[in-house]
Amino acid sequence: MKNQAAWLTEAKAKPLKVGDAEYYTPGADEVLIKNSALGINPVDWSIIYEKFPNVIGTDVAGEIVEVGKDVTHLKKGQRVIGHCVGLMTNDPKDGAFQLYSICKESNVAPIPDSLSFERATVLPLALSTAACGLYQENLLGLPLPAKGTKPNGKMLLVYGGSSSVGTVAIQLAIGSGFDVVSTASKHNLEYVKSLGAKAVVDHHSTNLVDQLVQALEGGTFAGGFDSICTDDTLKTCVEVAERFGGGKLALTKPGAGGDMGKNVTGSSMYAATIAVQSPAVAEGVWGKWVPGALADGTLQAKPDPIVIEGGLAKCQEAVDRHKQGVSAAKVVVKL
Ligand SMILES: NC(=O)c1ccc[n+]([C@@H]2O[C@H](COP(=O)([O-])OP(=O)(O)OC[C@H]3O[C@@H](n4cnc5c(N)ncnc54)[C@H](OP(=O)(O)O)[C@@H]3O)[C@@H](O)[C@H]2O)c1
Repeated sequence: MKNQAAWLTEAKAKPLKVGDAEYYTPGADEVLIKNSALGINPVDWSIIYEKFPNVIGTDVAGEIVEVGKDVTHLKKGQRVIGHCVGLMTNDPKDGAFQLYSICKESNVAPIPDSLSFERATVLPLALSTAACGLYQENLLGLPLPAKGTKPNGKMLLVYGGSSSVGTVAIQLAIGSGFDVVSTASKHNLEYVKSLGAKAVVDHHSTNLVDQLVQALEGGTFAGGFDSICTDDTLKTCVEVAERFGGGKLALTKPGAGGDMGKNVTGSSMYAATIAVQSPAVAEGVWGKWVPGALADGTLQAKPDPIVIEGGLAKCQEAVDRHKQGVSAAKVVVKL
């Protein structure tokens, strides 16, 4: 078998260069996926890798073609999504922008036959990020999602519900029994409601904090998840938490956090470490919840993909397209 990758030849080199890559053998707890679609994330145009040449990208959807000897939950021929962790390992085998990628079994989930690879690949990094923020002990430490969980009367703020990460955070939090109040631009309010949020406030409103507080008063305040993490969004989340006497915030911006206000603390997540730092979270989300939730529609593969056809040669165009900004959408490359 021959592999090819869209190589990042040196730091910030542009364009990505398509060339041969190794056909990898999975380690004991890994699988090799033949990729059919790749998702683009902000990290793909903002991160600086430590080794070159390297293969960037985190999100793949495709078919398992090889399994490591200790893999128990997955098998050859399965249609799956996978979160590649090259950001952590700096190893080209763990990058997404290639025909075949390695993923840890812990970061892979089967998908229903009815779900296309292009739609499914919107999920992987967003899933790991949201899972870290909601469930890791040093972040919000919420109970894991499970089928049949009843509403617990607690309210969570998810700022930025139309982003990829926010979209999944809302759905996971509901799966854990929480009611969610979220924010988005006016044109995305209905979209975020369709994910199950109890209330969605236009984040351009002048009285945003008051509106969020009012919506959150329907239950016990359980903290906040800021998917966006600009100075303004952080300030809003802190002010809302202060109005409830304080609380914890989960933050997507690496390194953000600490003491943020009166009785308000924030911590940032690092999605690539999900299985290393919190195997129980990876197992609870990727292993136990995602397959069933995708099959019964509890987890929607959203936001909608903007599909760019043409294979690895289009990865650079896709990254550039994402850099222009997206609104309730994910740029995806079809291989
Ligand atoms: N720490 C980690 O491990 C990790 C992992 C993944 C992502 N991240 C970070 O998490 C963030 C979200 O990633 P993503 O892929 O979910 O992003 P995304 O889908 O590209 O975000 C797009 C959305 O962001 C909203 N938005 C943009 N600017 C905004 C602003 N100033 N105020 C409020 N909303 C704004 C837009 O909402 P409207 O169009 O509705 O206004 C849009 O729908 C990024 O900063 C990313 O780098 C961190």
